[in-house]
Order: sequence, then structure tokens, then C-alpha cells
Amino acid sequence: MTDYRIASIPGDGIGVDVQIEARKVLDAAAKRFGFGLEWTEFDWSCERYTKTGTMMPEDGIEQLRAFDSILLGAVGFPGVPDHVSLWGLLIPVRRAFQQYVNLRPVRLLPGTTSALAGRSAEELEMIIVRENSEGEYSTLGGRHNEGQPGEFVLQESVFTRVGVERIIRYAFEVARTRSGRVTSATKSNGIIHTMPFWDEVFGEVAAQYPDVRAEQTHIDALAARMVQQPDRLDVVVGSNLFGDILSDLAAAVTGGLGMAPSGNINPESEHPSMFEAVHGSAPDIAGQGIANPVAQVLAATMMLEQLGEKEAAAAVNAAVEKVLGEGVVLTPDLGGTATTAQLGSAIAEAV
Ligand code: NAD
Ligand code: IPM
Ligand code: MN
Repeated sequence: MTDYRIASIPGDGIGVDVQIEARKVLDAAAKRFGFGLEWTEFDWSCERYTKTGTMMPEDGIEQLRAFDSILLGAVGFPGVPDHVSLWGLLIPVRRAFQQYVNLRPVRLLPGTTSALAGRSAEELEMIIVRENSEGEYSTLGGRHNEGQPGEFVLQESVFTRVGVERIIRYAFEVARTRSGRVTSATKSNGIIHTMPFWDEVFGEVAAQYPDVRAEQTHIDALAARMVQQPDRLDVVVGSNLFGDILSDLAAAVTGGLGMAPSGNINPESEHPSMFEAVHGSAPDIAGQGIANPVAQVLAATMMLEQLGEKEAAAAVNAAVEKVLGEGVVLTPDLGGTATTAQLGSAIAEAV
């Protein structure tokens, strides 16, 4: 029997609620398919920060290194500034383990409705390939002339050739396994250094994939297209910030934030990858037991796939589709009255 060592970081807010359900479902899958999941739980969170002054211990990254994978709930809660909590946990993990691909597949599942009227499941299936290690997310810059009339801040973006090339190449490889279409999010009309460079590298990589249809669209127009003609999109590749924004939009047009999973992938598998929902800790509904656990469960199936447990992943996906399709046990965001735990248990039983 293969045993997998998984680091579980529930984090904050609804991260904690949905993590319990994802573990429930994964444990059911492990039992049915005959592999072992050895969970180690870490209390790294804003609560920990409030007590100790740090989100994770100094050797936190070292502690995670030995695991086969990481399942993360969500990080961030009122009381701790977001840039402190996120740069104290989520972003360092993504970077230390070179998880430079943030893969965010979305599709309209049975029993759920798109925010867009009259759209069917066939039209609503996309995958956002988000650059996850550099770009607009940078510590370079600073605040100047503080408190004076001429006060200003500078925020620098870093786009390396290696970083841009590898994410775009990854998107083309994903496209070969899907529709054979890649759309690049750009803003080379307005952002004068980074985006023309992004386009240049996109063009170079596209030339190496003559079998894949490549197009680039300005991020503003792309946002409109995602709402008005989502059927014309499949693989969408974007920088760290553009990919972040587009992934919530893509989630919204395919059934909501409660449905969208995410994998922070280290494609070379030299370090653990980390799986989480696209959504955050949702302080507005935290502690109420009404968060939709499906996004986290689907993130956990992405983890199973990466671990090589394809059959188990397929069974969990089928269980999610079955329960949602029956339309009985649904959380409030899906129009039902079920609790997080009821939906999680229904999926675990269906597995
Ligand atoms: P959010 O995704 O937490 O919430 C946005 C809205 O969607 C809220 O109204 C929320 O109730 C709803 N929502 C989200 N997930 C849901 C679910 N599973 N079921 C039902 N409704 C759901 O975004 P936010 O409000 O911008 O961020 C809250 C906190 O989370 C912030 O501290 C932010 O920095 C953090 N955050 C963390 C991550 C992460 O850890 N990966 C991701 C995004 C945001
Ligand atoms: C996400 C989140 C994070 C991001 C935040 C919380 C730093 O929005 O995972 O999408 O922007 O990467
Ligand atoms: Mn986001």
C-alpha cells in the first residue's frame, strides 16, 4: 500500500471549515482505493500570528519540504493586514517550492447554474494558467515623502525571461491536451515594459507550437469576453495579477467561488506542490458552517491526480457531480440550505 504524507494547513476563516470536508472526502477515497494518507496538521494562521507574531515558524518551509503534498485552506483574516498574513505564509510557500504554475480549471457542474443566463456546461469550461512566482507580486518599491504633499509609492514588477517562457510553454502543453487553443492576457498597449516583453515571449513560444491556435487579447477586453463569449475561451495564460483576477471571474461565470479549485504546481516535482481553493477565508460567512466545500474537495482531487491516484481522483469528481446533480444537499451559495458538513459528508458517502 502506498502511503502519502500530506501537510494540512487549514488556515483562517472558512479555510478551516472546508479543509475538514476535503479531508473527509479524501479519507473515503483512500479507503476505497487502498492507499494511505498520513495527515500532519499545522496551525499556521492569523490566530497564530496574533499569539506569536509570525504566521509560521522560522523553519516552516523546511518542515514542509519532506511532504508529498500540501493541502491549504485559506489564509487571511481581519485584524492582521493581508499583506502581512499572505507574505508570511502563502506566497513564501509558493516561491520556496518553485510552484510557478497556478492551475485553475473551472467548468459548470451538473446541478449548478452560471451567473450568466442561458449558458450550458459545454460552453463553460476553461482553465486559467497563472504565473505564480514573480510579475506584479514583488517586494521591490517603497513609500516616499511620507506625510508630505508629494507622497508617492513605487511598486516594481519583475518579469524574467525564464519565468515568462516556462509559464507560457506550460499553457501550450495544457492546450495540447485540451482544445488546442491558448489565449494570452496582455496589456501591451498600456504597460510599456513588461507586457510588450510578455507578448514577445508568447510569440516565440507560439511559433514552436504550430498545432496550437494562439491569440492574445488585452486584459480589459478579455474580461468582457469571458462574460460575453466564454465559449471562445479555453486555456487562458496570464501574469500573476492578471491570472489572479481572471480566475475569480472565471469562477464566477461557472458557478461561483465555492466551486473553483486551484493547484500551485511545481512541474518538475522537485518540491511539494500545494492545493487550495481559488477563494479566500470569507470572513463574512466564517464560523457559520455554510461555506461551500466543493472548491476545496476539487482542489484535493487535483492533488490526488498529481500524486498519481487517477482512479481515486475520478471517483471523487464523479461523487461531486452525483451529489450536485441530485440537487438535494446544496449549500446556500448554490441555492440550498445544507451546511458545509452535510455537503462534505454527502460527497464522502458517494465516494
Ligand atoms: P473571498 O474569496 O474570501 O470571499 C469573496 C466572497 O465570496 C465572499 O462574499 C465570500 O463569502 C464568498 N465565498 C468565498 N468562498 C466561498 C465558499 N466556499 N462558499 C460560499 N461563499 C464563498 O475573498 P476576499 O473577501 O477578498 O478575501 C478574504 C480574505 O481571504 C482576505 O484576507 C484575503 O486576502 C484572503 N484570501 C486568501 C486566499 C488564499 O489563502 N489562497 C485567497 C483569496 C483571498
Ligand atoms: C489567490 C489569492 C492570493 C493571490 C492572495 C490572497 C495573495 O487571491 O490565491 O488567488 O493573489 O495569489
Ligand atoms: Mn485570488
